[in-house]
Formats: sequence, structure tokens, C-alpha cells
Amino acid sequence: MEIINDIESLKEMIGFWKRSNLKIGFVPTMGYLHNGHGSLVNLAKTKASKIIVSIFVNPTQFNDPEDLKKYPIDLPRDFSLLKELNVDAVFVPTPAMIYGADFESWVELIKLPNLYEGGSRPGHFKGVSTVVTILFNLVEPDFAVFGEKDFQQLRIIETMVKDLKMNIEILRGPTVREADGLAMSSRNVKLSKETREIAPEIFKALSLMQDAVKKGERLSSVLWQAARSQLAKFPDIEVDYLSIVREKDLISVNQLESSCRVLFAGYLNKIRLIDNLRLF
Ligand code: PAJ
Repeated sequence: MEIINDIESLKEMIGFWKRSNLKIGFVPTMGYLHNGHGSLVNLAKTKASKIIVSIFVNPTQFNDPEDLKKYPIDLPRDFSLLKELNVDAVFVPTPAMIYGADFESWVELIKLPNLYEGGSRPGHFKGVSTVVTILFNLVEPDFAVFGEKDFQQLRIIETMVKDLKMNIEILRGPTVREADGLAMSSRNVKLSKETREIAPEIFKALSLMQDAVKKGERLSSVLWQAARSQLAKFPDIEVDYLSIVREKDLISVNQLESSCRVLFAGYLNKIRLIDNLRLF
């Protein structure tokens, strides 16, 4: 596995792959990898013959400098996980490489970033769409994989690629969960023993909604109430939002129509957790 720390070496390798007509699959990450990231790599492998992963804790998507400082990093562990997955290359740039001096060109969507995560984290998605564009320009992938775990981010990237006519196919990776249902996240290590035990209640509450839909319930208010009263049994879970939305534009619906999801975000002892589930 090539470990690439500078743009020149990256361009050289990508150029070689392109001249050899190899399809490039790309998985952008912020490191501290887990099986969720691993599943994206495996999905990329089904389509592409060369797989490259980036590890870059992107400063511009953190609206809280403390959150950025506390973001977990363990490159040796990440590298050994990626080697096991037979990844061809890992790109680890510095902020100065990505954002040169006098950087002033941002990629910003108008509507999608203001909802949900964007409401609670102003500027977050402007940082995401900009860094992903820069990484796409550097890596020139044929396929890029994003997890459904961050569903709003996935929809923003899909919209950006469509609107800006980027010649990249975006693949959706299903959310990978711990055995008890908690969605895997680099932030889960920050949960205390007590809050870690409560955390799976989020998935259980979302699954209650899914069960009700399977039994025929279509009214959002009824579904919402079922999940909300379940979550209320655990006062340590502080709900930020719980919304039933259309996948297309993330607008909330009163009645389920095709392609609807429930989006959740909340805090467990100040640790922010997000999750979502397809309902219909
Ligand atoms: P990061 O949080 O490291 O996530 C990298 C990718 O892994 C994202 O596409 C995310 O949705 C996916 N992922 C995380 N947990 C997952 C899980 N449990 N199951 C499946 N996929 C999961 O998301 C980012 O980094 C950044 O915003 C980034 C896109 C790299 C831009 O900086």
C-alpha cells in the first residue's frame, strides 16, 4: 500500500493509473477508521480496480475549534486496517496542501446544507462540499463511496456531483452497526461506559418506526410519537432533531410517500450522535 503525503506523488500515481486505463475507486475519510469505513472500501472494490482512501481531518467543516482539537487520530492503526483491506493507496495531506495561502474558492449549495446538521453546525457542509471537490480534483476517481450513516452529507454530495456535472459515480454504502444496533462512528469511543449502554436505544427507537411502517402505518405524527415516547424513557438522550423526510430534498412529510427516511441527531452527555433509517 502506497502512503502518499504530497500532491506531486499523488498526481504521478493517478496519472499512471489513468494511462493504464484502470478504474479508480475513492473513499474519503477523516480517519480513526472502523468497519463502517471498511465496508465502503469493500463496496468500491466491487466496481474499481484501484482503491484509494484519503485521511484528512478537514478543519473547515468543524464549526467548533474544540471539536476539531478533540477529533481522534491514530494513523498507524488506520494504515494497518487499510492494508488488511488491500487498499492500493492512502492519501494523507496537510491542511496547508489542501487550502493554499489566500484560499477563497468555496463550493456551496443553497438549500440542503441549511437543514438538520447544517442548522446545528453552521458552515459545516460548506467545508464538506469544498474539501470533497478539492479531493475529487486531485484523485480524479471514477467512483466515490459515501456512507448512508451521514445521509444529509450523502445527498449534498450527490446533488453537487449532478449540478456541477462532475464525471464521478457516487455509490451509497449502507450503515454498518455494532451488534447492539449502535451505528459505528469514530465518535463512539468518547462515550462513557454508562452512555455507551444507552446509545443503542436510538436505533431501537428508529426501528420502532420501521416496524410500524411494516404493519401499515403511514402517518408521520403517529410514527414520530412512537419513537419520541420511547426515547423519552432515557432522559440522558437529548434529542436535537427527529424528522421524517423525503430522501430527495430532505423536506419533512406528514404522510409517508416513496423513499422516506427518519433522520435523528442528539446528544448523550454532550457527545453528538446521528443516525437515520429508511422507512418506506
Ligand atoms: P468520516 O466521518 O470519516 O466518514 C467517512 C465516510 O464513512 C463517510 O462517507 C461516512 O458516511 C462513512 N461512514 C461513517 N460511519 C459509517 C457507518 N457506520 N457505516 C457506513 N458508513 C459510514 O464523513 C466524513 O468523514 C467527512 O465529512 C468527509 C466526507 C471525509 C469530508 O471531510
